[in-house]
Order: sequence, then structure tokens, then C-alpha cells
Amino acid sequence: MEKSLLPTPLSLWMDSTAGPDRGGGALPGEVDVVVIGAGIAGLTTAYALARDGRTVLVLEAGPVGGGVSGHTTAKLTAQHAEKYASLRERKGPEAAAQYGQDQSAAVDWIARTSEELGIDCAFVRTDSYVYTTEDERVSDLRAEAAAAADAGLPAEFVDGVDLDVPAVGAVRFAGQARFHPRRWLLGLASAIEKLGGQVAENARVMRVDERPVPVVHTERGKVRAGEVVIATHYPLLDRGVYFARLDPVRDLVVAGPVARSHDGMFLDGDTHHSVRYHDNGGELLAIVGGEHYRTGEEVDVEARYARLAEWAARHVGVTRVTHRWSAHDLSTLDSVPYVGRYHPLSRHLWVATGFGQWGMSGGTAAGLLLADLIGGRENPGAWLYDPERFDLRSSASLARNNFTVAKHYVGDHVRAVGADSEFATLGLGEARVATSGASVVAAYRDEQGVLHRRGGHCTHLGCVVAFNNAEKTWDCPCHGSRFGIDGTVIQGPATRPLPEA
Ligand SMILES: Cc1cc2nc3c(=O)[nH]c(=O)nc-3n(C[C@H](O)[C@H](O)[C@H](O)COP(=O)(O)OP(=O)(O)OC[C@H]3O[C@@H](n4cnc5c(N)ncnc54)[C@H](O)[C@@H]3O)c2cc1C
Ligand code: FES
Repeated sequence: MEKSLLPTPLSLWMDSTAGPDRGGGALPGEVDVVVIGAGIAGLTTAYALARDGRTVLVLEAGPVGGGVSGHTTAKLTAQHAEKYASLRERKGPEAAAQYGQDQSAAVDWIARTSEELGIDCAFVRTDSYVYTTEDERVSDLRAEAAAAADAGLPAEFVDGVDLDVPAVGAVRFAGQARFHPRRWLLGLASAIEKLGGQVAENARVMRVDERPVPVVHTERGKVRAGEVVIATHYPLLDRGVYFARLDPVRDLVVAGPVARSHDGMFLDGDTHHSVRYHDNGGELLAIVGGEHYRTGEEVDVEARYARLAEWAARHVGVTRVTHRWSAHDLSTLDSVPYVGRYHPLSRHLWVATGFGQWGMSGGTAAGLLLADLIGGRENPGAWLYDPERFDLRSSASLARNNFTVAKHYVGDHVRAVGADSEFATLGLGEARVATSGASVVAAYRDEQGVLHRRGGHCTHLGCVVAFNNAEKTWDCPCHGSRFGIDGTVIQGPATRPLPEA
């Protein structure tokens, strides 16, 4: 599909659901718990704690669900690609069983709670499939089906899928689900408010002091808290060395009307193309994901969107793309999320991150676990997600992550050697990073011919940003911070804008 036929990037979930304005109002001086981040992990934690009787304040830099949770494909399933064979091999059968139980319980909890609270989030039960088109991968999928079934999941190997792809085998998980994530999150936010809690939008947190008592500093004032939960996707604070233990992988999504749906939701186990359907007020849409890459790697993102749209047309019958969007998620060293105490010495600081593309069930399970930990209740899965766990194989992933970051830190400085006089030659819609005296400048000329110049060093830890030509953003290749062309922070861990240059 030609690039010019693709719409301006905007998530279907954000576009199709307006929420009330939660951007005004004074913040309270003190609460039992501050939850930072109104994505699925933060709002689930906040709702569960509010139901336990705690006074809860959720602080959100943007709108409710405006982070990754509003830019997902929202398959709600315990089938996380080919998770169970590798988890069993790496951590044992108990770990695989615990993980499967927690993810299934999260799906069931959303089914039950959306009904209890009357949240119309388009929740539909459906089967989930991971398929392969390569004969030599069939044995892997058979092993995955067996491992998942041993872990207690409703899994089986099947010969093919009801989708226009040459699949030669698949793992089917029966009775999984799909839903509308923004409607779900807006419903949770209202439920928190009904329980006496507060959800504050446009309230970016800049800093958290842990001692002598936790104090959260925002752009709109400071709040004392008994407990603080960091559910900001990329953990906001550098304590705990999360930036060395998380890898940001970006995926693109296109959506458009189709004549018929296929029975189920699908993931290509080799290319990671993903397909699900959604009834958008009587119009049937297919939502197709794929074309993953490491955030901030210099790639032609527009060309990737065009390739994805072509795939969606050929295999799913999407001939007109009405929405497209992208986001990145974070993978941990051992592919299990980090949920628990923020660092070994923290008494009142908690974290949930690293859902590895599966945070709809993973973020929900994390929120329920954190509510148990904060409430002093036993939770059988706490050991599996403990952020302080470490195994020997993790050190290889740690070294690989840090090599990638170091490569960008050094290599991108060397690459930004053009002189800033080159900015004069930038065409409409073009961008470049170059040195200007002792500093690095990121410049973009918009379609009206105005040149926008910002400092080219990411305000998190100083890596050099790269231009994303589809979203028109400056993306950092080290830990995934993203900035608008006016320098504003779109996504952390950075909290400060790119300075003027
Ligand atoms: C393209 C794509 C498709 C996906 N598809 C699926 C899928 O089908 N099924 C599935 O299970 N998972 C899927 N995932 C993964 C899932 O969407 C994520 O794991 C999940 O949404 C992460 O939730 P979160 O609450 O951790 O983060 P977020 O939703 O990003 O929430 C964090 C919030 O914190 C806020 N914040 C950040 N910094 C600050 C600050 N300093 N102060 C205040 N607020 C702050 C952000 O604005 C944001 O709203 C997908 C991911 C991607 C990228
Ligand atoms: S996100 Fe860490 S240096 Fe940019």
C-alpha cells in the first residue's frame, strides 16, 4: 500500500473513546497510596487497593490509558507466544504452572470485574493461536502445546488455522478473550473514584523521595504517601538499575474494515504478525500488528508501515487502513515481568514492569499481586516475579543489552558529525542530527518550512536521539524515551524535555 494512503498515526482505542477531563483539581496533601501511571498495571493496582479500603491517588502524565495500554492490540490471553516450553526449561515446571495460573486468573478477573462493575469493554471470549508456516518449526509448537497443557492450560496442537496463511501447525488455547482496553481503563478509573480515590491526568511525576517518608513531586505539587507504586511502564527512577535490565521493542499496528472475521485471534510464531478482530459500533475491523524493531534504531518507519499494510491486505483482506499506531513494550532478562519491591532496601516503593508484549493479562496479574504484597497477604506467585531474582543466563542478556546501549552511546555521538550548516539544506518533512559547536542538535523541518531545533541528547542518560519519520518524534535508542519535535516528553524514562538548541 502506498505510504500516502495511510492515515496520520492515531490509535483506534484512543480515537474511539472519549473520557472525562481529569486534568484539573487540586492534589491531596497526603494519601495511603500513590500509584504513578494510569495504564493497565497502575489502574488495576489502584482499584484493588481502593477496594481494600486504602485512600488512593493515581498520578498520570497524560490521559488515562494514553501510554502503551491505549496503543496495544489488546488480546487478553495466557498464550504469550511460545512461553511455556522455554519457561519450563529455564525455571522448572512449577514456574510454568504458576505463570499460566496467574495469567489465566487475570483474564478471568477482567471477565468477572467488568460484569460486576458494568463496564462495557467489548469483552469477547475467543480462542488464541500461535501458528507456523515452516515445517521445521512444527516440533517446537508440539513441544509448546505439551508444556502449556502440563502447566494446566487449555492448550493443544492443531494442524492449521482459519486464516489466509499457509500454516502447517499451531498451538490453540481455548477460551481466551479480546477487549477494548481504553474502555476498560476508563471504567476502572471511574470505579476507583466511586471508592473515594482520585485519578489525576496531566500530573507528571518528576521525583520521588523515599526517606524519611515517601514524598512524590509532580508538576502540580507534592504528595506524601504511605506507599508508592511505580507503574510508569519504564520505571521512572534510576534506583534499582532497571535501565540495564529492560529492552524496548517497538511494534506497528494497522486497522481497517473487513468483510468477514476468522474464528479466533492469531500470532505468526516466526514473523510475529498478529491478527484480531473488533466490532467498532457495527463495523467489523481487523487489527493487524507486526514489523517489530528496537525503539530508536534508525529505520524507515514509514516503509515498515507500508509493508505491514500490504501484509494485512494480502492475508486478512484489509484494503483500507483507517487507523495506524505504534508503541513499544519492555522485555526483561528472563522474559518474566518484574513485580514487587522497587529495590532490595525499599520498604514503601513498589514496581510493575517488563511485560514483554503481554501486559494485558501480565499488567492485570501484576496489579493484583502488588495489592496483595502491599496489603501483607500471601501470594503464591510473588517469588516468580521478584525484581531481585537473577539466574546465570540473565547475565548474558544483561551484557547484550548493555552492549547495545554502549554502542549507541558511543556510536551515535560519532555519527552526529555533520555541521549544523547542513540544516539549511533540509527539505520539507526531513530531519537530521548534527554537531553544532560542542553540542549535538536534532533538527526537523516541518511541512510549512519551519525548522525546529532541540538538543540531541536524551535527557535520561544522554544517548543521541534518532528521528521516527512516521510518528514525527525523536526516539532514544538506549531505553526508549520519546520526545515531540518541540522537545516535550512523550514517553519516559526521561522526565525533562529536550532543551532548545
Ligand atoms: C503494539 C503493541 C501491541 C501489544 N499487544 C498486546 C496484546 O495483544 N496483548 C497483551 O497482553 N499485551 C500486548 N501488548 C503489551 C501491553 O500493551 C503492555 O505490556 C501494557 O500495556 C503495559 O502496561 P503498563 O501499565 O505497564 O504501561 P502503560 O500503559 O504505558 O502505562 C504507564 C503510564 O505511566 C504514565 N507515566 C509515565 N511516566 C510518568 C511520570 N513520570 N509521571 C506520571 N505518569 C507517568 C504513562 O503516561 C502511561 O500512561 C502490546 C504492546 C504493544 C507495544
Ligand atoms: S532513554 Fe535512557 S538515555 Fe535515552
